[in-house]
Amino acid sequence: MFAVLSDIHSNLEALTTVLADIEKRGIKTIYCLGDVVGYGADPKACLELIIEKANWCVLGNHDYAVFYEPTNFNYGAEQASFWTRDVLEAEKDKRRSDKHWQFLGELPMRRTLEVDLSPNEAIIDFVHASPRRPINEYIFPDDVYTHPGKVRMQFERVRHICFVGHTHMPGVFLDEPDFYLPDELGSVYPIVENEKAIINIGSVGQPRDKDNRASYVYVEDSKVHFVRLEYDFETTMKKIYAVDRLDNFHAERLRDGR
Ligand SMILES: [Fe+2]
Repeated sequence: MFAVLSDIHSNLEALTTVLADIEKRGIKTIYCLGDVVGYGADPKACLELIIEKANWCVLGNHDYAVFYEPTNFNYGAEQASFWTRDVLEAEKDKRRSDKHWQFLGELPMRRTLEVDLSPNEAIIDFVHASPRRPINEYIFPDDVYTHPGKVRMQFERVRHICFVGHTHMPGVFLDEPDFYLPDELGSVYPIVENEKAIINIGSVGQPRDKDNRASYVYVEDSKVHFVRLEYDFETTMKKIYAVDRLDNFHAERLRDGR
């Protein structure tokens, strides 16, 4: 049994809500798909919680932006990564500071697990964005109609199951290609031996599927369960409003999940 979470984006209220739910279910193993930071006002607390609670994490484009350089970011996102970098650089406790930078600097692009999810075996890849471009490529639900070739090509790089985040829109891609919202699946996707799937787990701290609740998944036996949780986004919004260099839009979109 393990949980997978992604795109926390320095949203402490959403992250603590999700971690409490994971603990309540008795889940001890947590994997993270990156974008721990960016947009929100609590980068240090979120980094430290992920370092403490997650077994491992892969590199997201916002983590990359803080450690290296933003690539293809809009103005607001770029400003948020520069602000985040300044906050981390201003940390005076050297041990704490080293911990943050070491974590960001050592994030891998991909992780793979071969697991016995009785009754099935599964090979599971974990990336932030897409199987062929793990940090930066967006696979949107509409792509199955507008760019089916692009989605099919992703599956050439998937052996069985691949968990992704990045678009902040949860759901399951199959190789036809096809896309299913969690609601269409009754919030459960059963992993089966001969079906490849790219599973977007949604975003903990910056949901964008018009549902403002935090999103994550957990896997029990061979079933992927999609979870949504209400959290205190008004507190998160206030913290973003209080930082001049963080665009107010990063706060406003939390209310509507867009
Ligand atoms: Fe993200």
